[in-house]
Amino acid sequence: MRKVINLFKTLFSKINGHLPGKIYELFFIDLIPRFFGGLSIVFYSIIYRNVWFGKNGNCWGRIYLWKSPESSIIIGDNARIMSDFLRAGIAIYSRVKITAFANSKIIIGNNVALVGTSITCRMTRIEIMDGTLIGPNTIIIDSDVHSVWPPENRINTPGYENDRPIKIGKNVWIGMNSIILKGVTIGENSVITAGSLVKTDIPPNVLAGGNPARVIKPLGVDSGKERSIFQECIM
Ligand SMILES: CC(C)(COP(=O)(O)OP(=O)(O)OC[C@H]1O[C@@H](n2cnc3c(N)ncnc32)[C@H](O)[C@@H]1OP(=O)(O)O)[C@@H](O)C(=O)NCCC(=O)NCCS
Repeated sequence: MRKVINLFKTLFSKINGHLPGKIYELFFIDLIPRFFGGLSIVFYSIIYRNVWFGKNGNCWGRIYLWKSPESSIIIGDNARIMSDFLRAGIAIYSRVKITAFANSKIIIGNNVALVGTSITCRMTRIEIMDGTLIGPNTIIIDSDVHSVWPPENRINTPGYENDRPIKIGKNVWIGMNSIILKGVTIGENSVITAGSLVKTDIPPNVLAGGNPARVIKPLGVDSGKERSIFQECIM
């Protein structure tokens, strides 16, 4: 009996280490999520006006996308959108969620990677430039959603007048669990550390982070190049 069990264990560990692992990876982490992701892109392109997805995009898992008729959502070429629990490895909330209200605009450049990211544009414009990498569970929103004062009206006063556009420059890397608030510009090539709350502008070519995010140190001039290589490695 023991011999049979041992034989079974050896056989199982051999198979488990090779064939099923690869098949599992191929089907459940790549093909099936990519099928649903592709399907969601086709679906949104059909049902919504002013939604454009560029060439050679890859989307793993369904995106949640909602837009008002007057708003626009543009996603450039070679997008890498990870909206699936298995594919977006370290994310807890893995869905990518894109919401555009009123006549707002969400413009995402070429070669941008979104991992479980939520982007909400209520009145203004959110621009994410080429080559930017946004880590898991990041929230980007151009609005406070409620006005601060008076307290008794908070729930009903949307505070539209405080909404401000957001611009995230080329080759920025935003670490996981960050929040980017209204009116912020992040300069190109900068890196935002994990868990940061960005509420004021961040200059180009710096490491910045914390709550509220502040510049921690300058980064090398070719830091953007390093990040492009990094981005290729994780794709
Ligand atoms: C951005 C990051 C890569 C920088 O790493 P690094 O170059 O090794 O930076 P260091 O650890 O040398 O830290 C430099 C400074 O930033 C500070 N810092 C680093 N991470 C920080 C954070 N999350 N919040 C606040 N400060 C932070 C350090 O305390 C240090 O400050 P000091 O010089 O006063 O001691 C790293 O901080 C990080 O956030 N990693 C997670 C990236 C991520 O989210 N990956 C998910 C996949 S996209």
